[in-house]
Amino acid sequence: MSLSALTYIARRGMATKLTVKSMAIIGSGQMGAGIAQVAAATGHKVVLCDTAGDILEKAQAGIQKSLQRVVKKKYADDPEKGQEFITNTMANIETTTEPAKAVVTADLVVEAIVENLAVKQDLFRTLDKFAPAKTIFASNTSSLPITAIADSTKRQDKFAGLHFFNPVPVMKLVEVVRAPGTSQEVYECLMDFSKAIGKHPVTCKDTPGFLVNRLLVPYMLESVRLYERGDGSKEDIDVAMKLGAGYPMGPFELLDYVGLDTCKFIIDGWHELEPENPLFEPSQLLNELVAAGKHGKKTGEGFYKYN
Ligand code: CAA
Repeated sequence: MSLSALTYIARRGMATKLTVKSMAIIGSGQMGAGIAQVAAATGHKVVLCDTAGDILEKAQAGIQKSLQRVVKKKYADDPEKGQEFITNTMANIETTTEPAKAVVTADLVVEAIVENLAVKQDLFRTLDKFAPAKTIFASNTSSLPITAIADSTKRQDKFAGLHFFNPVPVMKLVEVVRAPGTSQEVYECLMDFSKAIGKHPVTCKDTPGFLVNRLLVPYMLESVRLYERGDGSKEDIDVAMKLGAGYPMGPFELLDYVGLDTCKFIIDGWHELEPENPLFEPSQLLNELVAAGKHGKKTGEGFYKYN
């Protein structure tokens, strides 16, 4: 190949390479706040958006607290530098209650709101009108089809899944979900972005639960069935999986940590898609706990009680 052809290809490659410097995160719950934290800590400008000022204040306080945990270890010998790291990270985070304003200069928008398809579609329909044409849209959904969310916009080529894990500052994985419409440049950009924020990305197709939840959710539900049948106590099942399989949490601890309402929502959705699949069979006990408002750690009680 001639030198000029190589130069042309190199220039073309450079011209199409997308990078993320600024981002908007819609939804400032545990996941949204965690994503904001890791992006801001790695020098990205973040606009964090939610429906009310007090929710955003709570999110900022949570980020501060989490950063203090990070700093305690990372800057154990240099507390001054640790404080500087916290100040610089917090300075990279702006907040707003107006989604249209949040996205005006964003290279990337990550949505981390309630797991409801219609609500997500409504949000993206609006964002599509206000975000520049260059802006990449990503959803942090844990179980809804990316394609169905993307269909509410006119930028299917710039739409993908970016699925983080709880607690975001600690868990190293990001699932980059490549829907059939996602362009190669956008996929590569999200892989690069995941690495730039210190995560390890894996590539997933747009299938139910992607990789992790497709394995993790049926495992947790099977644990509940084991307990319901009286084959083991929940405490013993938790200990068994921690000491026998090296998991950091047992399945009941993890159910409480993720949220029983979230797990119920995921399994119900999959059951509707594939009613014959025994792995997606809903659990009576899980349904009862959710109906009683026992959603896990966040409500003070799930399978276990919390102070
Ligand atoms: N921010 C910053 N640091 C944090 C943190 C947070 N929110 N939470 C924990 N840490 C740090 C702690 O400071 C501690 O750091 P050091 O090692 O420096 O002391 C370290 O993480 C370990 O924490 P703890 O000592 O408090 O407790 P632990 O050892 O039990 O670890 C855990 C806690 C990291 C949550 C661990 O139990 C774990 O990995 N559990 C499994 C979590 C998991 O499976 N998550 C995926 C859920 S599925 C999901 O999210 C997807 C979905 O769509 C449903």
